[in-house]
Amino acid sequence: MKVLGIIGSPRKNGNTDILVDSVLQGVKEKGFEVEKIYLSDLDFKGCIACEGCRKTCKCVLKDDLEDVYVKSEESDGIVLGSPTYFYNVTWLTKKFLDRLYAYEVFDETDRSVWLSPNEVNGSKYAVTVSICEQETIENMGFTSDAMNLTLQSVGWRTVESIKALYLYERGEAEAEYELKERSKKAGVKLTKTIILADKTRSI
Ligand SMILES: Cc1cc2nc3c(=O)[nH]c(=O)nc-3n(C[C@H](O)[C@H](O)[C@H](O)COP(=O)(O)O)c2cc1C
Repeated sequence: MKVLGIIGSPRKNGNTDILVDSVLQGVKEKGFEVEKIYLSDLDFKGCIACEGCRKTCKCVLKDDLEDVYVKSEESDGIVLGSPTYFYNVTWLTKKFLDRLYAYEVFDETDRSVWLSPNEVNGSKYAVTVSICEQETIENMGFTSDAMNLTLQSVGWRTVESIKALYLYERGEAEAEYELKERSKKAGVKLTKTIILADKTRSI
């Protein structure tokens, strides 16, 4: 069993990085394999709406995201983290989320009818992590919804959404013991969900 961590902050060793690590720690403790990637290390474009993916559910753009598609397909779960940038996810995270458009299938004559191959072939599961510097959840804006709704639409159900407020400086999350424990528990919950899904498939 494998879980892929995806960091949508351009800041390495930042608060997103720390809290995604805590989630992955919980995942590792349950004996799962984990891998973490930084979107900031990758050279990739945003979706250009070429619709080249429509028939095959494969994105036709040739860039570093090709490898991420493979890794995500091979994973049983993902942990996606983004700080809030002006009430939403970062540009890096949005660029990644838009490229998941390749995983949507539409009815040929009625675009209100759509689904995802992930849903059909066995749902996948996610934990999302959102971080903002202000003290109220309103200041987080669409950050967690942008991740959760998009992942859900391509067949990854979010089992836990960590929302961390009042973190500004790089690395401040390191001192947040309770928050890190909560994140770790979310990782454990993710593994339990994956195991339950596996058992349920064989009923
Ligand atoms: C361009 C930019 C926009 C930001 N917009 C918001 C915002 O709308 N609300 C907020 O609370 N924090 C905002 N922040 C603060 C970050 O969300 C915060 O510093 C966070 O801890 C960064 O996470 P990281 O360490 O993982 O990069 C913004 C930061 C930047 C650089």
